[in-house]
Amino acid sequence: MATIRISVPATSANLGPGFDSLGLAIGLYNTIELSKTASGLTLEIHGEGADTTPKDDTNLIVKAAFSVFKQVDYHPPGLHFVINNAIPVASGLGSSAAVLVGGMVAANILLNEPLAAGDLMALAVKAEGHPDNICPALLGGLVVSNYVDDHLIYRRLPVVPMKVVVALPAIQGHHTKEMRARLPSHVPLKDAAANIGRAIMVAQALSEGDYDLLADAMKDRLHEPYRRAAIPGFEQAAEAALDAGAKAITLSGSGPALIAFTPSHHKQIGESMGHAFQAATGKEAHIWILPVDTQGTVVYRGQQHPITHHQDGL
Ligand code: HSE
Repeated sequence: MATIRISVPATSANLGPGFDSLGLAIGLYNTIELSKTASGLTLEIHGEGADTTPKDDTNLIVKAAFSVFKQVDYHPPGLHFVINNAIPVASGLGSSAAVLVGGMVAANILLNEPLAAGDLMALAVKAEGHPDNICPALLGGLVVSNYVDDHLIYRRLPVVPMKVVVALPAIQGHHTKEMRARLPSHVPLKDAAANIGRAIMVAQALSEGDYDLLADAMKDRLHEPYRRAAIPGFEQAAEAALDAGAKAITLSGSGPALIAFTPSHHKQIGESMGHAFQAATGKEAHIWILPVDTQGTVVYRGQQHPITHHQDGL
């Protein structure tokens, strides 16, 4: 029986002031293979989360696939998943969005696409709770997304080709739910107003590769100030990145990863962030230099196999 093969990129949500609205796809990928079998459910999981992720119907990717099956009242005889994860779990790099999108797209392709792209997007966003990782994970590139009443709206925005530096400190159990619980339910009007202007300027800066504009605009007042303290070494790593030449730096999603934007000196910036985390916490951070992904979720048809994406490490 045919095997469905797809890859889903990591995503960096918020991009500073674009809280719950802006997200960027970056070149780190989970790949999923899904086949129908005669009976039962089997999962092979490799890479990130392989030892900790359940291999039964409580697995998030299986639940995501079944949420699509439920929409069309389909009951598969049996399923086999082979999952290769490069996106670390609970990192601020959109691993849960990649899992939801991966499970849902694979299931939809398996059934010859009964759900339209927009419906699939809405289903995934509903499961995730906020759209800013899901939309770029599906579409690639830079995406702005929001709800108007119950209606999800999103647009892909232009972004120049660029590489970002990502530093992930070794912090266990850093979860978006807790990081969201740290946020106030009300914010001062002047903070909201500052973020509106800056978020638009972040999008403009990324569309033109204007790193000087990004340096000013990528300063959030709605979530980052409340989250920094939960990340030991954040201040030191951010300062080290700027000292090494980074133009702008911010928390990736709800963290603990940091993402730095720079036209040059990527390696030095990555090393400086790594050293700063090591000095501040005694633990090594994982550093990547990653291109912006412009393809989003890719379905490999026929004989084509999931590509091994090039990933610069340090
Ligand atoms: N916008 C979300 C948050 C992203 O900051 O909580 C989580 O990845």
